[in-house]
Amino acid sequence: MRIAMIGSGYVGLVSGACFADFGHDVVCVDTDIAKVEALRQGEIPIYEPGLSSIVTVNAAAGRLVFTTDLTAAVSQAEIVFIAVGTPSRRGDGHADLSFVYAAARDVAEALDGFTVVVTKSTVPVGTGDEVERIMRGANPEADFAVVSNPEFLREGSAIEDFRRPDRIVVGTGDQRARTLMAQVYRPLYLNEAPIMFTSRRSAELTKYAANAFLAMKIAFINEMADLCERAGANVQDVARGMGLDKRIGPKFLNAGPGYGGSCFPKDTVALVKTGQDHDVPLRLVETTVAVNDHRKRSMSRKVIAAMGGDVRGKTIAVLGLTFKPNTDDLREAPSLAIIQALEDAGARIRTFDPKGMDAARELLPGVTFCEDAYDAATGASGVVIVTEWNAFRSLDLPRLKVLMATPVLVDLRNIYRRKEVEAEGFHYESVGTLA
Ligand code: UGA
Repeated sequence: MRIAMIGSGYVGLVSGACFADFGHDVVCVDTDIAKVEALRQGEIPIYEPGLSSIVTVNAAAGRLVFTTDLTAAVSQAEIVFIAVGTPSRRGDGHADLSFVYAAARDVAEALDGFTVVVTKSTVPVGTGDEVERIMRGANPEADFAVVSNPEFLREGSAIEDFRRPDRIVVGTGDQRARTLMAQVYRPLYLNEAPIMFTSRRSAELTKYAANAFLAMKIAFINEMADLCERAGANVQDVARGMGLDKRIGPKFLNAGPGYGGSCFPKDTVALVKTGQDHDVPLRLVETTVAVNDHRKRSMSRKVIAAMGGDVRGKTIAVLGLTFKPNTDDLREAPSLAIIQALEDAGARIRTFDPKGMDAARELLPGVTFCEDAYDAATGASGVVIVTEWNAFRSLDLPRLKVLMATPVLVDLRNIYRRKEVEAEGFHYESVGTLA
């Protein structure tokens, strides 16, 4: 099949490369000439495990090309995916749909023959109707169907998620579109990934509901972690005991410093706004947003308490800056709020992150960027693990202790066992476990 992917950012690039890998002919379009040039040279603008080799292989095979020429790409395509950004609109938290609408207009003008136009970007319920209206206005003669096909990829494991999805959700009432969408995903549902067809509005809302539910699960376990600390219980045992109930499931029950990233924070706020627009208050989602915002900063109080209640003039090593491992993404990362609060309390910060330091340099001007975890810990009165990179999972604790001013380890991802760390002579704090 011939596919045009509008927007070669995270979602567009991963999806485009993976569709090409299925054997489809994919043209990835972007307005950023420098980005398109770089992609043509095989340079990948984001860090995503496995992506570079898929791009290289499929580009070499001629199945994956990059262009700024939207008109040519769309006129030859049977399916056009719109995968441009939907950031939070400044001021009110609504999703900013200007990029989606602009793409819809351009696509409409370039259509040639029946084409399925798919919104892959995360867009509020009802956006497909507006996209269709805009397209009709821009090109009344065009023959097309607008479909919603949200993506559920996680950064850091996006290729794996694309190849082995839990489900594929396709929202359309158009039979021709349904047939083409089934064809484009054929290699996946042959592998038994369920493909479900719904109305367009249901598909749009499914994406927000799924993200909000996952965010709520995290906020819930984080509140339980606080309770465990006060009540003398262990949140990991509680989470395991809960998760073994198949109705709950074991995933997304890891207590930590709060969720970050480009999706959960933005999508939960946007869903609250959608609820308000429809006069349906979404109190659980509102509370999730508030609980998570509070959590990020409150983690700094935990660090300060672990270091004796005062960090003025002390050096603290922060290990991990990205919002989660295997990404270079710092958007809404808990590390940013924690570092800010520790600096406000008078601490000096040394840090190391395997992939996030380039992006962090601009955001964190007062921080010292180090070679590795040991370099960061040198002279520190405490080490704080904020992101659970594998590189931090088996630190040489005796070596760390020698380098530090005082041996304090605050493990905000619960990747160490208290007994082991304390046996090495450290004061150890984790999340939701006291003993
Ligand atoms: C999330 C969803 O998981 C994807 O399904 C969705 O497609 C994507 O948003 C999106 O809307 O595009 P992502 O933001 O890449 O994916 O990352 P997650 O793995 O979901 O992690 C989000 C945050 O939750 C991270 O900060 C992570 O550290 C935190 N988290 C996750 C926890 O604190 N505890 C957990 O148990 C799980």
